[in-house]
Amino acid sequence: MSFDLVLFGGTGDLAWRKLMPALFQAFRHGSLPKDGRIVGVARDDLSDDQYRELIQSRFNAVEGAKRPSAEEFEKFASLLHYLRMDLSKPADYARLADLLKQRNADTVVMYVATAPALFTQVVEQVAAAGLNGPATRIVLEKPLGHDLASNRAINAAVCKVFEEKQVFRIDHYLGKPSVQNLFAMRFGNALFEPIWRREHIANIQITIAEDLGVEKRGAFYDQTGALRDMVQNHALQLVCAIGMEPPINSHADAIRDEKLKVLRALKPWTSETLGLHAIRGQYTAGTAYGERVPGYRDEPGVDPESRTETFVALRTEIANWRWAGVPLYIRTGKRLASRDARIEVNFRPTPHAIYRAPSGAVNKLVINLQPKDGLELHMLAQAQDNRQRNGHSAAQLAPVQLDLDFDKRFGAERVGAYERLLLDVIDGRLNLFVRSDEQEEAWRWVEPLIDSWASDGGPRPYAAGTWGPSASSAMIARDGFSWGEEQ
Ligand code: BG6
Repeated sequence: MSFDLVLFGGTGDLAWRKLMPALFQAFRHGSLPKDGRIVGVARDDLSDDQYRELIQSRFNAVEGAKRPSAEEFEKFASLLHYLRMDLSKPADYARLADLLKQRNADTVVMYVATAPALFTQVVEQVAAAGLNGPATRIVLEKPLGHDLASNRAINAAVCKVFEEKQVFRIDHYLGKPSVQNLFAMRFGNALFEPIWRREHIANIQITIAEDLGVEKRGAFYDQTGALRDMVQNHALQLVCAIGMEPPINSHADAIRDEKLKVLRALKPWTSETLGLHAIRGQYTAGTAYGERVPGYRDEPGVDPESRTETFVALRTEIANWRWAGVPLYIRTGKRLASRDARIEVNFRPTPHAIYRAPSGAVNKLVINLQPKDGLELHMLAQAQDNRQRNGHSAAQLAPVQLDLDFDKRFGAERVGAYERLLLDVIDGRLNLFVRSDEQEEAWRWVEPLIDSWASDGGPRPYAAGTWGPSASSAMIARDGFSWGEEQ
């Protein structure tokens, strides 16, 4: 099978950091179809060779085993080409069409990794140049819009010229091996399904914590914030994976139909819940990796009076028969105490106690997404020497855990998220991509937060290197629970 992959934004941050390394890994693993071209598109005036050199210089900065040898790079570089384009000029799309016609590849992937403001223009021009034929697949990076209306406008422009099955909306969390393991755990095993419901589960906590700040993306991030950057997409996709009903099969639409139902079932915001169940914060100067780091407002590219949130904590519920009444907490932020993405499913206590048990959640399933990829099942057990030590008849049980480490079991060098997703686009597999209705529903749900935050008192400060504003712990404490790692 032959393919052409056109990368709009070919010299941008995403291309360097994620896409090129992922394409190289796919090439190295032998999974990229042999007969392919990767065409970087940007405004800079570069030859193919200069583009290859630029990419090689970036690869040379990579540490360790992921860095290609000169020989490996040379082989990979033979796939790389470059086309200078002004994305507003129809004549430049005609040149792209000429380049693609040279080969008439079986599959043409148009990866739009540009600033979101250009998405509609690129899609329309691609179609005007006749490049939206059945062999074409279009890949759109997040964020797709900045609110429901802009998201709809982009989707409408895309759907005018492409069929939904040609549109690959990326959420790279769906490509992570750990997230696929979450699907496998739920739908490849019968073990958890009977207890995966309100009768047995006390609460669910989703945490996506980053210890990094906004790095060099201050200008972008300041227009975006944690709600649009992480909650509307990654966190809500995790909510779907945890909360959805088993799909009838593994086809893309069967999965996406079930995810959509979860998004539709999320409790709508009211003026009361907006006040009590939605906390946002912004980091101030603090410590990361043992060093002093600046506050968000002092980061390059950020408005010194910025009201953009770098932390969000929410409480919601999936209002359906399976989940009614089970609090679902979502928390994400930059410059938190550690890099840690996990889902904690806290089970209800035993109905009648014959042991003296430690307080707090005793049975919980922790789905570690990163940096570890695995499962932990927390339980109580009777320690051997318990009786002698305590001398009580009502024995004290000790917490223990079953620990499954997928990196150890399957090797840490598994296919990365972008590698997996890029290969899926080339193969035409839509399972791990987001449908327009899902995306719109997610925007619909976050929009009241956007609106109410536009005019309130602004985010609460928290020191870099902590777990966010104390209001986040207070929110969960009102329900009688606490965030996992703070127990
Ligand atoms: C991206 C966000 O989508 O996800 C970034 O734009 C964030 O701000 C990143 O850092 C987190 O991804 P990962 O894979 O490092 O958890």
